[in-house]
Amino acid sequence: MVEKLARKLAGLSFIIWEYISTYSPNLAEVVINNYSEPVIRKEIDVVKIKKEDKFIQIGCGSMPYTSFIIAELTGADVVGIDVDLVAVKNAKKYVQRYKKNPSTRIRIMFGDGVNHDLSGFDVIMVSLGVEALEEVFENIMKTAKSDARIIFRNISRYDPRGIVPEDFVIKKILRHPFFWESVILSKRLNRDA
Ligand SMILES: C[S@@+](CC[C@H](N)C(=O)[O-])C[C@H]1O[C@@H](n2cnc3c(N)ncnc32)[C@H](O)[C@@H]1O
Repeated sequence: MVEKLARKLAGLSFIIWEYISTYSPNLAEVVINNYSEPVIRKEIDVVKIKKEDKFIQIGCGSMPYTSFIIAELTGADVVGIDVDLVAVKNAKKYVQRYKKNPSTRIRIMFGDGVNHDLSGFDVIMVSLGVEALEEVFENIMKTAKSDARIIFRNISRYDPRGIVPEDFVIKKILRHPFFWESVILSKRLNRDA
């Protein structure tokens, strides 16, 4: 209950920050370049995201910098989805504004992690602030490939073992400065039981 509220507040603060930054992108750029990018590089490195991978971010936000940086740095085929239509519109503009390299593969679309078909993706990210987490995990379990690599961004003070269903194996936890972490998961197969 408290964890859900904290998640909601963290998500909300990001959403507000991203909405505001859409109108004043310079400060956001400084934060993204100096704080977010090193974290994303760590995620890429540990999950070994590469050109042949199809990556999806559930909850890409108004500023889909995570999806964008992954597309640019790895060459992977990237999709960012969001349930908020305004965020989708802003995110499409963000990509148009920053995409310089025509070979960068990134698409933004409306979509809900609760029921979006994830079967075509090798790497699935669940962003901080994603709602209906139980249903999102259920959907990952139902539709994702058995060997999909999953990155779940979590608020570090809440133990992911109390949030992530037992259907998943926690492979690694990457702790980041401030209040959050990336929990690397895979689907639990019979041989892991
Ligand atoms: C923290 S923000 C965006 C993350 C950030 N832009 C990044 O690059 O890491 C989280 C976003 O998740 C979206 N969201 C929440 N629940 C969702 C769901 N079930 N499916 C898809 N998007 C969702 C919200 O609308 C919000 O825009």
